[in-house]
Order: sequence, then C-alpha cells, then structure tokens
Amino acid sequence: MEKRSTLLLATHNAHKAEELRALLAPYGIDVETLADVDGAIALTERGKTFQDNALEKARTVAAAVHRPVLADDSGLEVFALGGAPGVYSARYAGEPTDDARNNAKLLAELDGIRDRRARFVSVLAFVAPNASGWVERTFSGELEGEILTAPRGTNGFGYDPLFFVPTIGRTLAELAPEEKNAISHRARAFEAFVAWIEGEGRAAFAR
Ligand code: IMP
Repeated sequence: MEKRSTLLLATHNAHKAEELRALLAPYGIDVETLADVDGAIALTERGKTFQDNALEKARTVAAAVHRPVLADDSGLEVFALGGAPGVYSARYAGEPTDDARNNAKLLAELDGIRDRRARFVSVLAFVAPNASGWVERTFSGELEGEILTAPRGTNGFGYDPLFFVPTIGRTLAELAPEEKNAISHRARAFEAFVAWIEGEGRAAFAR
C-alpha cells in the first residue's frame, strides 16, 4: 500500500481546508489544519505582498511543527486604485473586518472612475524541512474582472458581489460554489501546486 503523506494547512479557515482536502486526496496527501495541532500558533501578515504574507505564515508554522506546511494569502487588486486594496483586502474599511463595509468603501473609492478593471490574486506558500534545511516554493493564481457600480448576487464572500467576470457574464456572487471553484484565483494557485507535487515536488513529502 502506498504511504500517505500529511500536509498541514496554515489556516483557521475550515472552508479553505475542505477545498484543499478534496483537491489533494487523489494524490495520497492528507490535509490537517491548525485545529489538529497542539498549541496556539499565532499567524501574522506584516508583508507588503501576498507572497511575503503567505511565506511568513508557512515559515512560522513549519518552524513550530517541523513538517510540510502550506499557507495562502489572497486579495483584490484594482487597477485604477494602484493595486489597492491588495494585501489589505480583508481590513480595507478597518477592523473588525466586514465585507459590507469593505464593498461600500470600494464603491466610494471608485465613484466616477470609468476604468473598473480588477483582479483577484491568490498565493500559496509551501515550506517543508529537508536534509539540507528547508524547501520553499510559492504558487500564484489570478482571476481578471471588473468592479460593478452596485452588488449582484448572494453567493460567495468578500468582494464577490461586485466582481464581474466578463468571460462568464456574471459576478462571482452569481455563480454556484463549484462554478466559482472551477475558475477562481485560489483554484488556479492550487492547480499549480498540485502540478508541482505530482512531479518534482513529490520528494518534498518523503520522510
Ligand atoms: P484571505 O486570503 O483569507 O486573507 O483573504 C483576504 C481578503 O481578500 C478576504 O477577506 C476578501 O476580502 C478578499 N478575497 C480573497 N479571495 C476572495 C474571493 O474569492 N472572493 C471575494 N473576496 C476575496
């Protein structure tokens, strides 16, 4: 019987863990989350890029548990706002984070602006111990769209009701979960990660 490997997902978000568990099951990789690990590990996001933040989270957890860890960071970049809200997407309108206030702020910032181009970005960071120290890899995925002037749809979360996908003709909040998962920035980053672990990355799980 083939030996199964375990990947620890550096998140407290059960939804993300479920998504990844389903994606990785065919590859003989089991997924655990921080809830499965003893002790509280504080996750911080002090970086200026999604990549910095994803790596920071993965390194923190990998150093604590000394086994393979995957962390993710994501957000919305609006072209006319110079890439904002970017890494501040979750707390755009301040803390505690609130999707409705974030969306209202985004609409206010874009009031009167005709260029509505935007994209979602997701970066996954994989960090694992190996014989010579640590393996570190990052994988990114993007989804391009436009910010509407009023919300449409009730599915999803975050900026989904304002994010219109021209190739589909609907906002992300008007898509069923499986439709969103087929095209999302997160799914694309996961695909890149899965392609790597199917190939040269497979050795990173050898214990
Ligand atoms: P995080 O990756 O969970 O830290 O998400 C950062 C923030 O970016 C979220 O709180 C949302 O505001 C936004 N965001 C990231 N991915 C999505 C998405 O798929 N739909 C809508 N908003 C998103």
